[in-house]
Amino acid sequence: MKFFIDTANLDEIREAQALGVLDGVTTNPSLMAKEGISGEENVIQHYIDICEIVDGDVSAEVISTDFDGMVEEGNKLASLHKQIVVKIPMIKDGIKALKYFSDKGTKTNCTLVFSAGQALLAAKAGANYVSPFIGRLDDATTDGAELIAQIRHIYDNYGYETQILAASIRHSMHIIKCAEFGADVATCPLSAILGLLNHPLTDIGLAKFLADHKKANTVTA
Ligand code: G3P
Repeated sequence: MKFFIDTANLDEIREAQALGVLDGVTTNPSLMAKEGISGEENVIQHYIDICEIVDGDVSAEVISTDFDGMVEEGNKLASLHKQIVVKIPMIKDGIKALKYFSDKGTKTNCTLVFSAGQALLAAKAGANYVSPFIGRLDDATTDGAELIAQIRHIYDNYGYETQILAASIRHSMHIIKCAEFGADVATCPLSAILGLLNHPLTDIGLAKFLADHKKANTVTA
């Protein structure tokens, strides 16, 4: 499973990249706003900065909600850098835009997916990635991870190549569930990735190894 980081914070992206396990980045308008990035020129520069930090795909979301607007914005975003993936919302004109970009060979990520039917439409339109929001489904008392399993099953039935990019991940256990249910990618906050490191027995075991090493190497008078 690939690990993407779900942030527009350059320090966090650098930290994840330095770990050596980062495969890409996803952003959205809320994440850009959280970093105080506004105005077309700043937004464009920020996407370029992100692409220069990481090696993999970087999702950049359109703001338009009509076909012509999404096409114009998406073409502009895609021209910024070869790593840019155009992120398109799961709406009627979004499906048309996904098909347009798919026919053109521009990579896309279909976002705001909350059902298997939406994921099926995104795959049929040729999206490279589909982004089910599992945390927000959990918030609405629906098991988000179950949707990953359902989409996996459907895509495998027909050999769809659209990659399942599990999004709205809030914690490390979400990542484990995504891996169990066959997501191709999990896009995560840095805290959820780092949380995978934690186990008290690792800390206890390491402390014991180091203490035993010290004892064995302490010269007694
Ligand atoms: O990738 C989508 C993600 O950023 C949404 O996460 O936590 O706002 O539901 P969240």
